[in-house]
This record gives sequence, C-alpha cells and structure tokens, in this order.
Amino acid sequence: MRFDIITIFPEMFAGVFSAGIVGKALDKGRVEIAVHDLRDYTRDKHRQVDDRPFGGQEGMVMKPEPIFRAVEAVRRDGDSRVYLLSPQGSRFDSAAAEEMASHRQVVLICGRYEGVDERVSERLVDGEISIGDYVLSGGEPAAVVVVDAVSRFVPGVVGKAGSVRNDSFADSLLDFPQYTRPREFRGLKVPQVLFSGDHRKIARWRRKKALEKTVRARPDLLEGRANASEDEDLLEEIRNERKDQ
Ligand code: ADE
Repeated sequence: MRFDIITIFPEMFAGVFSAGIVGKALDKGRVEIAVHDLRDYTRDKHRQVDDRPFGGQEGMVMKPEPIFRAVEAVRRDGDSRVYLLSPQGSRFDSAAAEEMASHRQVVLICGRYEGVDERVSERLVDGEISIGDYVLSGGEPAAVVVVDAVSRFVPGVVGKAGSVRNDSFADSLLDFPQYTRPREFRGLKVPQVLFSGDHRKIARWRRKKALEKTVRARPDLLEGRANASEDEDLLEEIRNERKDQ
C-alpha cells in the first residue's frame, strides 16, 4: 500500500515515520510513503499556493490549480483514493482506517490557511476527513495520524495476526487495563484476579473493566449498541456498583 502526501511543509514529515510500527512497515516494504511539496506544482515565479478569498475576509485560501496538478501527477492508475484533510471533513475512525487500507494508494492533501478552494472538494477528492473537532494549523499532523492508523490494517504490518482487531474500537469498546511487573508499585497493587490462573475469570474481569472504562469515558460508544447477554449482565453489575458509590 502506498501513501502520497501533498503539503506545503514537507519538512514536517522528516523523521516522523522512521520509528515504530510504521518505520518497520517501511523497512519491510509493506507500505510506501512519498511526501510531495505542493510548491513544485505551481507555475509562477513566486510559487504561490494561496490567494485572497473572493467575497472578502481576512486570511488566505489555497488555490486549486497546484493541488489539481499535484494530485494528477501522483495519482496512479487503478485502485487509488484521494482525501483532503480539513476540520470540515467527516470524522476519521477505525472503520474509515480499515476501509482505506483496502486500497492500493491513498493520496492525502494537507489543507492550510483559512481553507482550500471548494472546487478541490467538489471535483478532485473522494472525501474530506477530519481527525476530530478541533482546528489544527494544518492537515499535516492529521496526515500522520491517518497514515499510522491505516498502516496498522495493512496485512503484515502489525505483528500478531488478529491483534489489530483485538484493539480498542474494533469492537467499539475501550481496552481493558493492563498491568506488568512489579506486582506492587508505590503501594498500588495489581488486581489479584490476574494471578489466579483462571482464564475464564480473567476474561470476564477484563470484559467488565473494558465496559466500565467505556461507560465512564465514552458512553457514546455504547449507545445503540446491541450488547451480548453477558455484556448486559456486566453492565447491570456496573450500574449497581456505580449507584452504591
Ligand atoms: N486541518 C485542520 N484541522 C484539522 C482536523 N481537525 N482534522 C483534519 N485536518 C485538519
């Protein structure tokens, strides 16, 4: 799978993909990442990528021509998708990441300034993506997030088969808490059940903790969810315990 990132700040990507899982995936050739300087697709002396907005207002808007030229130059025949990163996009999530990983090439356009000429959204891209309800100073950090999250779904990138699916959100629950040595740290003890050797008991405890965390931090993930009956029992327990607190 190949990513092409179009940006006016290619230097922002120096090093960011070289370590960790994405770094390994690059070394193994499972993913390829190319960063393109949008200014290389301008045709004027000043390499201008932005201009004042029609209709007036402060700030600058990214011009359409260099963006169209850049995408047309880097897009490969066959199975490619093109996305604009902007706070106006639809929310990026695990399902979107998995879908993107099913394509051979993903082209990411990093928006900047007050916005991007609307004709880019209208005609050039397959979608507009936001990584959350906050405004970044540009799409570059969002592109890093997308490349990382999508790469994890590319076969052979994450070590143990199936472990991406066990991660949070695959099942729309937050992860259960994990502990390692030491058994006691600053008076804080690892829950006894984890030493019990009783795998069913441990699995039930983990499921309950995952549900508990989700109830507390992300109740929205549980809304409209068809819970398995075991989960319903655990949720009932959690509700009763919370009432008692
Ligand atoms: N560019 C600016 N803010 C953004 C966001 N929240 N997501 C994606 N791209 C952005």
